[in-house]
Amino acid sequence: MEPPRTPRRGTRQQLPRHVAIIMDGNGRWARRRGLPRALGHREGVKAVRRTVEACLDTGVEVLTLFAFSSENWRRPATEVGLLMDLFLRTLRKEITRLHRNGVRLRFIGDRRAFPQRLQELMQEAERQTADNERLTLVVAVNYGGRWDMAEAARRLAARVAAGEMAADDIDVETLQRELSIHDLPEPDLFIRTGGEQRISNFLLWQLAYTELYFTDLLWPDFDRAAFDEALDSFAGRQRRFGRTGEQVEQSRRA
Ligand code: IPE
Ligand code: IPE
Ligand code: MG
Repeated sequence: MEPPRTPRRGTRQQLPRHVAIIMDGNGRWARRRGLPRALGHREGVKAVRRTVEACLDTGVEVLTLFAFSSENWRRPATEVGLLMDLFLRTLRKEITRLHRNGVRLRFIGDRRAFPQRLQELMQEAERQTADNERLTLVVAVNYGGRWDMAEAARRLAARVAAGEMAADDIDVETLQRELSIHDLPEPDLFIRTGGEQRISNFLLWQLAYTELYFTDLLWPDFDRAAFDEALDSFAGRQRRFGRTGEQVEQSRRA
């Protein structure tokens, strides 16, 4: 993996190229105010906007947001419907601004489960922003890390069955190439808001060497200061990728 690039702005020595976030705590944010969970989700959209702006401002190249997990279907039908509706409306409303700001949109997850018009809108948003280069915004919807790996295995098996490759050719690289976002740098920094310290079936494979950062802040309260705090924590870490600290120091000085 390539080392992080020099930041375009700011003074941090080590800036993550790719930040991946589990945006958790919308429901609790609302409940604490005696509001319906729906309002927490709506408030969460504002935090998404702030975070995209923070990435544009600091020079982070890829932002991956977990918006809806393959397990979130287990929620009450009204909440699921509401989330779909919010997703559709937000996408419609934000696409022009995102495009103007040079954001390339990508969606990962099994989209076949979504209403037709949402699938079309996602496809259209990807098409419209495909050539943008400032920031890649990956939205994980109906995504699960296990699903991602199972899909990759299924595609490889199909190629073996078709005689296009041998089972012996399957290794880490060939499997990785079948995963979603394999063409993007791996996540350098993972952030989870809401106080829980778990991965909840987010990017399982891709997080192998990602620096993990947890905050008790609920997602609707996540702001620029909180984002900067996470970047500062990342900047202070030594990434060894299996080597010794001395080796890392030596290659840094070289
Ligand atoms: C995260 O907030 C948003 C989604 C999972 C869609 P939650 O809705 O999980 O909020 P909490 O965890 O119940 O507070
Ligand atoms: C993870 O949050 C999924 C998203 C943020 C989309 P959850 O709230 O669904 O996670 P669990 O159930 O607490 O692990
Ligand atoms: Mg939650």
